[in-house]
Amino acid sequence: MKFYLDTANLASIKKYNAMGLVDGITTNPSLIVKEGADFEETIKAIAKEVYPNPVSAEVIATDYETMVAEGKRNKSWAENVVVKIPMIPEGMRATKTLSSMGIPINVTLIFSAVQGLIAMKAGASYISPFIGRLDDVGQDGMGLIKDLVEIKKNENYKFKTEILVASIRHPIHVVQAAKMGADIGTMPADVMEKMFMHPLTDIGLKRFLDDWNKAKKEKASITV
Ligand code: G3P
Repeated sequence: MKFYLDTANLASIKKYNAMGLVDGITTNPSLIVKEGADFEETIKAIAKEVYPNPVSAEVIATDYETMVAEGKRNKSWAENVVVKIPMIPEGMRATKTLSSMGIPINVTLIFSAVQGLIAMKAGASYISPFIGRLDDVGQDGMGLIKDLVEIKKNENYKFKTEILVASIRHPIHVVQAAKMGADIGTMPADVMEKMFMHPLTDIGLKRFLDDWNKAKKEKASITV
């Protein structure tokens, strides 16, 4: 499964990109506003940092004509921009138009399997089901991923759309999505940080180093 970071924070992106852990970036209007910088400049800087990996830049409009215009504008900012479009009827019309021009589309705000199916049929390159927000309202976020993976893999359809699991809240979501065969998981930096953590790793490392340092004090023959 590919790992994407769900952030517009360039410092976080640089940190994990240096470890080779960033296969792409997703942003949304809330994440752009949080960084307090210009939309276009932010997307251009991120796109340069992670090139050739993709960066999703969302349209703000909700009507067909303006969504298409914004989609073309966002795509002009960098070769690796993916245009993000909300799962609304006008958005599916814009997805059809933009994807037929060769512009890759990430359909966002997917909360049901049938919404995912519509977006795949409209020509989306990616669909973003929001699992954490479903869990928040007492629905089964991971169940949605299971359904979408099953639909995508059905031999009758052969959809090329990648299932981009979004609204990930913790490392267990990542493991479950990977086991189900999702293509991508996008996560905030704090979830990526938690994926490194295990208390036994810290305890084990401390023990190794304590043993080493103790022996070094006792035996002069031990050198680094
Ligand atoms: O970017 C879309 C999605 O990942 C947002 O997640 O945590 O705001 O529900 P969250």
